[in-house]
Parts: sequence; C-alpha cells; structure tokens
Amino acid sequence: MADPAPVVEERAPASVPRPRRVVVVGIGMGPQHVTPEAVAALARVDVVLAFAKDGEDGSEDPLLAVRREVCVQQGLDLVVVPDPPRDRHEDVDYAAAVEAWHRARVGAYERVLADHAGVLGLLVWGDPGLYDSTLRLLDAVGERVPLEVEVVPGIGSLPLLAARHRVVLHDVGHPLHVTTARRLPEALAQGQRNLVVMLNRRLELDGLEDWSIWWGANLGGVGEALVAGRVGDVLPTIEAARARAKEEAGWVLDLYLLRAPDEQAAG
Ligand SMILES: C[S@@+](CC[C@H](N)C(=O)[O-])C[C@H]1O[C@@H](n2cnc3c(N)ncnc32)[C@H](O)[C@@H]1O
Repeated sequence: MADPAPVVEERAPASVPRPRRVVVVGIGMGPQHVTPEAVAALARVDVVLAFAKDGEDGSEDPLLAVRREVCVQQGLDLVVVPDPPRDRHEDVDYAAAVEAWHRARVGAYERVLADHAGVLGLLVWGDPGLYDSTLRLLDAVGERVPLEVEVVPGIGSLPLLAARHRVVLHDVGHPLHVTTARRLPEALAQGQRNLVVMLNRRLELDGLEDWSIWWGANLGGVGEALVAGRVGDVLPTIEAARARAKEEAGWVLDLYLLRAPDEQAAG
C-alpha cells in the first residue's frame, strides 16, 4: 500500500504591513529657501508634523511660525505637537537628558503616525543632515513601525554664513572642522585651526583674540546680523549685535567661522 500523501498545512500568508511614507524636507531658513525639489516633495504629503517649543511666557515658538508660513504657501495641513521638555540644567548628564528627550519624541512621532493616515511630512530647519535629530529619530521609530523615508536637502546655516560673508569656509586644500560651542575647547585642544561653531549659548573666545572670526546671527530671518574681523577687535561688537538680534526677533541663532592666525589666507 502506498504511503498516504503528506498532509500540507495551509497557512494564510503573513501580512506584512505596508511601510508608512515620511518625507523629511529641509526648508532652509524659511519660504524663500524652499527649493523646487522641496515643493515637489511636499505636493506628495498629506499632513505635516512640527514640534513646537513654546516660550516660558507661553509665546509661540518663532520657528514654528516659519513652518506654518511654508504650510500655508504649499496648502498643507499642519499638526503641531508640543515638544517634550528637555532637562537643560547645567548639572544634569547631557547625554542622558538628550536620550530621554529623543525617546519622548519617538513616542510623539508614533502617536502622530497612528492618528493621521497618508504621507507624513516633516519640515526641518536648514538642512536635515546638519545638527538635526529628525533622521535619527525616524530610525528609532522605524524599528517599531515600518517606514519609507525620503529626504530633501535644504539650505543650512553653514552655507548661508559663507554666502553672506562671501568667503570660502576653508583655505585651499585645508580641512574644516564643524562643532558645537560645548565642544569647542576639545576641538582647540586637538589642534583644529579652522572651525565652524554652532549651538552657542554665549561666545567664549578667551585666548583666541588673534584669530579671525566671521559671525552671523538669524541668517535669512528677522534680526539678521553679520560681523567679521579679529576676535579681539570685534567681540564687543558681536555681543552687542547678538543682543540686538534677540531683541528684534525674540530669538537668536548664531554660528561662526573661526580661523587661526597662521592659516593660509588664500581663498
Ligand atoms: C539644531 S541646529 C540646526 C541646524 C540646521 N539644521 C542647519 O542646517 O543650519 C541649530 C543651530 O544652527 C545654527 N543656525 C540655525 N539657523 C540659523 C540662522 N538662521 N542663523 C544663524 N545660525 C543658525 C545655530 O548655530 C543654531 O544654534
């Protein structure tokens, strides 16, 4: 007698959830920097998400107003999510505070994805590839919800600084080190001689009086200010211009190119 035919258990094919589409768009410093490529990408978006950091006095996040303007111009719905608070106390463990903040933001992204169907757009200040956590957060979200992410570059503060001062950011064949104010002492100790410094709370340039600086605040926006020269000569001018920019706009974002006196002066 022949062996009975093997029993084949029929299983329904496992359903693979379709990835959610997310379009991350660098908007530069506002509507004037929204490129045709960004406009085309935004035309495929159903809803835009923006985090808002409201001021301690309850005033609206001024950078949110710029995103709102872009959405109005592009006919897009904007969902504003309060930015989870970040512990900024001087004595707190910086990395741990940032990690907790990122976790809270990942949760916020997940909730917006669950609550809104269609393609999600994220408008990033400047360029998404420069000191912005959006793409890293989406990597974390993507571990829990399948995502398909498209990125459109934007005009970042760094090329804008170079353009406003009409300078090349480095001398011929020389490197450029990009860092934060917090890590400037470390970069100088490493021997960096040509740096761009971002995320400043104040300017601390003691001992660098003979270096050259090209500084810019609120580039492309209200209160734009530019100062260049020998650090020892222009520091008070920068400090005054920084305070004026903050007064005029209600906020100040600044960065600067810093070059050692012995770097070659060729463009
Ligand atoms: C969180 S980072 C974001 C950078 C942004 N993704 C970019 O491409 O410029 C914020 C820092 O960028 C710099 N920054 C951003 N916008 C600026 C502006 N309009 N003018 C001057 N500096 C700016 C400042 O150093 C600020 O502290």
